[in-house]
Amino acid sequence: MTSPLPATALSRLASIPAQAGARKAQRRAALPDPVAGQLPESLALLEALPIAILSLDNDNKVASVNGAAEALLGLSRSQLLNKALSEHIAADSPLFALIEAARAGASAVGESDMTLSGPRLAIEHAAVDVAMVNAATGLVALVLQDRDLEWRLSQQAVSRDAVRSAKAIAAMLAHEVKNPLSGIRGAAQLLESKVPPGDRQLTQLICEETDRIVGLVNGLEVFTDSRPAPMSAVNIHEVLGHVRRLAEAGFGRDVAFREEYDPSLPSVLGNRDQLIQVFLNLFKNAAEALPIHGGVIAIGTRYRPGLSVSEPGAGSRRRLGLVVTVQDNGAGVPDALKAQLFEPFVSGKSGGKGLGLALVAKLVTDHGGLIDCDSQPGRTVFSVILPIADSRGEANS
Ligand SMILES: Nc1ncnc2c1ncn2[C@@H]1O[C@H](COP(=O)(O)OP(=O)(O)OP(=O)(O)O)[C@@H](O)[C@H]1O
Ligand SMILES: [Mg+2]
Repeated sequence: MTSPLPATALSRLASIPAQAGARKAQRRAALPDPVAGQLPESLALLEALPIAILSLDNDNKVASVNGAAEALLGLSRSQLLNKALSEHIAADSPLFALIEAARAGASAVGESDMTLSGPRLAIEHAAVDVAMVNAATGLVALVLQDRDLEWRLSQQAVSRDAVRSAKAIAAMLAHEVKNPLSGIRGAAQLLESKVPPGDRQLTQLICEETDRIVGLVNGLEVFTDSRPAPMSAVNIHEVLGHVRRLAEAGFGRDVAFREEYDPSLPSVLGNRDQLIQVFLNLFKNAAEALPIHGGVIAIGTRYRPGLSVSEPGAGSRRRLGLVVTVQDNGAGVPDALKAQLFEPFVSGKSGGKGLGLALVAKLVTDHGGLIDCDSQPGRTVFSVILPIADSRGEANS
């Protein structure tokens, strides 16, 4: 269970008057002077936190919310305030028992994996903490975190497995196919001078086909390249803007792009060229999946707190923090492909090589990042999670 936020700060959050759309500055001005020893900006801090926080009165009506709670519940402050929480989260949810447990014990309780559903809410794996704020009035603070992405990543470890198999296939093809092919080609060239002119087209056919297969195997060589690419602080919005312009000049000419960026995000630690390659492949797949009319690609960036991954073989964990999403409203990834989506040679397109996503997975993994796909008809989201430039390093977890 995570520790709750300071109760003093939470009770101040609860004291915000229910004024929908009131500016933060106005709300702050209405607060009493900070008490010595407390964070002077505690209210602004709660508002800025990317973790959903609500306070509930004794009847479980919403007394206050922060911006992240509005985003998580998909409702505005004015729609939430003074309304029963059960209007937004199914009344039979174990969440309500947890809230009562916090009130009964006048303490903080938590649950790391809970399903939350409601008219506009569908989180299968949420972390929930409830903290008693005021035992006399029954006011509690509720902290909600959507852990669906982390859960899926922990279940699949997709990108790492896919990269391993791509490397193994590439190494095998280079050894077992490319080397013998050069012998076959040499033999065909020798024969060419000895066979009757009418049969020369056959030796030429052998040469052409061996060249084609060698080209295919060469395309896989990038997977065997384990030299580390130079990494530096990269402005991800600049990269995405560049890729968007490339797309608009070519395959994405008729596509409507929508940007949902958090401009305050810091740089990622990455290789600009490789990141361009990653997002070019994702944009291209999205564009190829779109309907003929009304196709939209939405590109989003956001901060994802508390996400870390174990380093293969190192026994340590790396902190990640920046999520880039590429969402399209196309037909969705065919069910038959979903389990092997990041494997090489998996394609649902006629003429598709099935190398785009395998390369994306390799490059993202080389960055110490993660990739995930969540796809249904009409909504496919690829999420790329990257390390933040100044926070790369060993996390103590
Ligand atoms: N956004 C998407 N929507 C629907 N299906 C997708 C999407 N992205 C990928 N796919 C499916 O995953 C398959 C694999 O994609 P991948 O990019 O690896 O190969 P490809 O696009 O077929 O060929 P290429 O090597 O030329 O990129 C695609 O053929 C497609 O069926
Ligand atoms: Mg592709």
